Amino acid sequence: MASNDTQIIGYAQPWIVSPGQSVDIKISSTEKEYQHRLVRLLQGYSGPHAPPPATEEITEVPGGHRDDGCFQDACPGSYALVPSWKDVTCTAEEGLTVEFYAQPYLLVGDSDCQTLISCLDIPSRTGFAVVLRNSMLEFLIGTGDNVEVVQSQLLVNRWRWLRVSVSLIKKKFTASIQQLVRLSEMAPKGEAMAKDLPAPMVLGSNALLFGAGMLDSTGQESPKPSCFYNGRLDSPIFAVSGVGASRQVVAQYDFSKGISTDTIEDVSGNGRNGVLVNAPTRAVKGYDWDGSQPDWTKALRGYGAIHFHEDDLDDAKWATNFSIMIPSTARSGAYAVEIKCSDGTTDMITFFVRPNPSSTAQVALVMTTFTYLAYANERMFDQSRSSAMTTPDGVSVGTGNEYFKNLDRRLDLGLSAYDVHRDGSPCAFSSALRPILNLRPGYVHWALGRPREFSADLLMINFLERSGIPYDVITDHCLNDPDQKVTSKYTTLITGCHPEYHSLQTLDTFNAFAKSGGNMMYLGGNGFYWVADLDVARPHRLEVRKGDQGCRSVTFPAGERIHSLTGAQGGLWRSRGRAPNYLWGIGACAFGTGPGKPYKADARYTQDPQFAWIFKGIDPAELIGEHGFGGGASGDEIDRMDIPLGTPTNAILLARSLQHDDTFGLFNEDSMFPMVNTLGSNCDLVRSDLVYYDTAGGGAVFSVGSINWYSSLAWENYENNVAKMTENVLREFVKRGRGCGL
Ligand SMILES: [Fe+2]
Repeated sequence: MASNDTQIIGYAQPWIVSPGQSVDIKISSTEKEYQHRLVRLLQGYSGPHAPPPATEEITEVPGGHRDDGCFQDACPGSYALVPSWKDVTCTAEEGLTVEFYAQPYLLVGDSDCQTLISCLDIPSRTGFAVVLRNSMLEFLIGTGDNVEVVQSQLLVNRWRWLRVSVSLIKKKFTASIQQLVRLSEMAPKGEAMAKDLPAPMVLGSNALLFGAGMLDSTGQESPKPSCFYNGRLDSPIFAVSGVGASRQVVAQYDFSKGISTDTIEDVSGNGRNGVLVNAPTRAVKGYDWDGSQPDWTKALRGYGAIHFHEDDLDDAKWATNFSIMIPSTARSGAYAVEIKCSDGTTDMITFFVRPNPSSTAQVALVMTTFTYLAYANERMFDQSRSSAMTTPDGVSVGTGNEYFKNLDRRLDLGLSAYDVHRDGSPCAFSSALRPILNLRPGYVHWALGRPREFSADLLMINFLERSGIPYDVITDHCLNDPDQKVTSKYTTLITGCHPEYHSLQTLDTFNAFAKSGGNMMYLGGNGFYWVADLDVARPHRLEVRKGDQGCRSVTFPAGERIHSLTGAQGGLWRSRGRAPNYLWGIGACAFGTGPGKPYKADARYTQDPQFAWIFKGIDPAELIGEHGFGGGASGDEIDRMDIPLGTPTNAILLARSLQHDDTFGLFNEDSMFPMVNTLGSNCDLVRSDLVYYDTAGGGAVFSVGSINWYSSLAWENYENNVAKMTENVLREFVKRGRGCGL
């Protein structure tokens, strides 16, 4: 797509609402005019052998024509803002000293100039800034008449902590830059600087920023913060009246305080607290981290740094084009405002509606909003990043992939839990307050060429719609609310195709549901795998910190694997003693891009009256799920049963996938010795297991262990034995109702 082609995209705020609530629709469009209408999504994928895409128009909410389309930029880039800095005063005689630690992560960023600290105001030529340009620090000093530039000669090193000290007293500028030693190495030399200025620095009355400045890369005024820094700052301190006994600290920041918040605390007693914008990363190692404690919640020192990134994005803050009121009679589900330009260019702005209080449905599909967020706008196709996807057979972007084309054009839309930042550090947060271009009903995965996550889950919505069985749609966000007894009315919960990310609360909600006699259908793969935490105060924000082991495209450094929002240990749930096998009977074991394989049923159970109901209408000799948009029903990420990992001992292995090819590889956490014999053809740990067990609460769990299941379910208009088996289990669970509970 050429950059001047039509593009219209948008997002809804909030993205999970109740019937009767209002939703703001925010749009960026290259065209002024567009049409819009509200639909409930039933199925969006169109491809060979797929059921036709389907929506239900919500006519109570009038659509229409608008002419307010304009381009909107998401304005990524994180920084800290201290508005009350404008009250700080200092005379020329008193002067100002500034000391801080900095660890640059990218010597040449998006801009030629990266701002570490700034209160520089170009129009009034007041204040000062410390910037990184051409791998050297540069000091900009406003004298009222001019902005003086003092250039360091020291080439700084990526990842090397610096101690920087600057003094501006009368007309004298002095600075020292010291490169800190790591353990017993010899550190590169530092630099001492001194210069007479034509006039003393004039502080002015400007706000203070960390990580950005109100200037552009040429040193001209910028109307908004820019020239973002990629790296860490630690322990900045500002004082007047020199360094002797008369020295007065006017602001001092301890970034280790309030790590779970968006506030930075002035510990000088002067109350010059600041706010963080666009969620820079906290709970990261500072200049004085010594390895004695890798958990910031327990450490006495070492976590006083904040990591700023030019591509952090927490809230796109787009103007609202229009608002819609969700009818009080609305059914729960995935909805979209369809927006369309005159040339047919369109977007589906997706959001979710919670169950209607009047619903009597006993079945709920849990849409995996945590996983959708974790994957939001992932850029694993970007070969310039270390987070580019790799598989045994290699990956490439499919021809004409719309997601790739749309996202590749918009570098401003933020990152996912799968991406590294431009500076190479892993991305900790994902946000719902931005367009999420892979949360679209027609999304086709750029490498796998088939629906995945949200678009694949819609294949199940369409199945439920056709089944005639009343159902609700709920979300991970609903399960995460401890006060919300969201599952109490249901007898059966169904998962999405890839319920990968969970908090302790969402896992506990599933556990409690099972203990209380509920039935559960895990119709996906690689589920309940990574720890995720939602920011309760800001529920659009999700945190994920992967590390050590697990199939992943990013890894957090040692000492940075404790979530900043909650203080909880990130990584695999398996590493926290909560392997998915305990509840679901199976756990993730492998991934592959090649065609999936069908399952072969165990003949003992196809004929056994205790389990034959699962196979009703299916010839015992048939393979299960021979076809699908991803090949056989066992494919993509797959799970197997494993008693030592927690699979209940009464779990029945009903069917097992046929041997996968060598595009499939075993996950690293399943191999303790050097990784030999780990591919599909030579490793029998690479497989999907289809498992059933009765719970002590009187309910049951049915798990299939494959992301591909829904891509086979919808094959040939749901006329296949995957759909048959899914329906058999669902109808039986509905018939049984809920068990008595423990
Ligand atoms: Fe995944």
